Amino acid sequence: MLTVDDLEVRYGRLAAVRSVSLTVARGEIVCIVGPNGAGKSTTLLTIAGELAPYRGDIAVDGDRLTGLASEAVARRGVSLVPEGRRIFGTLTVEENLRLATFQRRDRAAAARDLADLRLRFPILAERYGSPAGRLSGGEQQILAVARAMATRPRLMLVDEPSLGLAPQNVDLVYALLRELRAGGMTLLIVEQNLDRVLEVADRIYVLRDGRVQLTGFVAELRGSDALEQAYFGFTRKRGNGA
Ligand SMILES: Nc1ncnc2c1ncn2[C@@H]1O[C@H](COP(=O)(O)OP(=O)(O)OP(=O)(O)O)[C@@H](O)[C@H]1O
Ligand SMILES: [Mg+2]
Repeated sequence: MLTVDDLEVRYGRLAAVRSVSLTVARGEIVCIVGPNGAGKSTTLLTIAGELAPYRGDIAVDGDRLTGLASEAVARRGVSLVPEGRRIFGTLTVEENLRLATFQRRDRAAAARDLADLRLRFPILAERYGSPAGRLSGGEQQILAVARAMATRPRLMLVDEPSLGLAPQNVDLVYALLRELRAGGMTLLIVEQNLDRVLEVADRIYVLRDGRVQLTGFVAELRGSDALEQAYFGFTRKRGNGA
């Protein structure tokens, strides 16, 4: 579904992403992992059209997205749940969700989707008229995912959904992401927590210094020295010495 080919992204003279190629098939959960500054968020922001690539190509279902603005990318069914959630804290929960549907032309369907989201997330429904800034971190993350759902994406890009959340909220958010996949959504997730990634992902890409260091199926990489080496730059000592 998603193809990213030899992507390079620069901030001024700094190449934050040097060469990243990746694919996501329909219905997959693919995770990007890697240390701070590896270029994970930059990759997602560029796919979402919030940054323009310096080189490379991005396509969804054969539609070329390279260089399109974020609104145009969203119209083609790609939605970003940004790092740090970027909820509008002074707007109500309802207003945050409504904003996400503003550019949809199918107004009647958009209104139905908002009603469905309200039913689906009682946590949000209870606070529908309250400023979103009063929600807990976990609730805000759920709102951020619900907001992305309100655009009816076929591909959701999720940047560090567990950042700053208490463990039970991380469980909640990941349960929701798994539910979405069960409902047919395709997901590309950036996640720092390697153990969480190994639980949820079908495939992973390990990024370091703006390049793909390692990629493969989780089923094959789980527990491998290659994965630890790529992710940590060293192998964690095993208790049994095996
Ligand atoms: N707006 C910006 N202007 C200039 N440099 C930036 C900007 N955003 C990120 N960078 C730099 O680009 C590189 C990649 O950053 P990026 O945010 O993509 O990394 P990341 O893998 O998401 O890291 P983290 O795990 O900390 O979120 C880093 O060196 C970072 O300092
Ligand atoms: Mg990041």
